[in-house]
Amino acid sequence: MSGDAGKRAAAEQAALLVEDGMRVGLGTGSTVDLLLPVLAARGLRDVRCVATSDATERQARELGLPVEPFDARDGLDLAVDGADEVAPDRWLIKGGGGAHTREKIVAAAAERFVVIVDESKLVDALTWAVPVELLPFGLPATLARLGDATVREGAPRSPDGGVIADVRASLADPAAVAARLAATPGVVDHGLFAPELVADVIVGRPG
Ligand code: 5RP
Repeated sequence: MSGDAGKRAAAEQAALLVEDGMRVGLGTGSTVDLLLPVLAARGLRDVRCVATSDATERQARELGLPVEPFDARDGLDLAVDGADEVAPDRWLIKGGGGAHTREKIVAAAAERFVVIVDESKLVDALTWAVPVELLPFGLPATLARLGDATVREGAPRSPDGGVIADVRASLADPAAVAARLAATPGVVDHGLFAPELVADVIVGRPG
């Protein structure tokens, strides 16, 4: 079982974690796309959702899941999202869909952040280029400072106006890369998610 079947299996397990009365953060991507119908089908009457992208918000609303703006100080009970790579120590790379800034805000606000992936996302060590969201102001200077960084071709701006780019770097020490990116002026946020954020990783696999 891999690909969509694996993603669906992980999504189905995650949907079972949602209980009536919860405020739930919804991530972005094809795995979350599979979660939403399963969650809607559970028919919970008092679940309120916060969406990390317009696409997720649209799909959730179409399925009858109530989506509210993320403008309250209280946190979320649960957030569920996919990932592009998951290392054994639970460092993640996210942002394949360019939504990592909102996704990280939502993950950090959740009491429990659950990652849903199929087996193909499990890696021995992170290898992807790290997605970054950059302020348009001074973009060439920011890219130069980041080193081996390119604006992602064809990627729309983030819903907050950020430019999506990818930074190639050695990821032997993800914490050091995360610290460097976070300290670079013009970087809104990057797609490295630290293990401290991650409560659970649900891997959809045979059985
Ligand atoms: C979007 C993300 C996604 O969670 C990540 O790209 C995984 O996507 P998919 O579920 O389609 O494999 O970080 O910014």
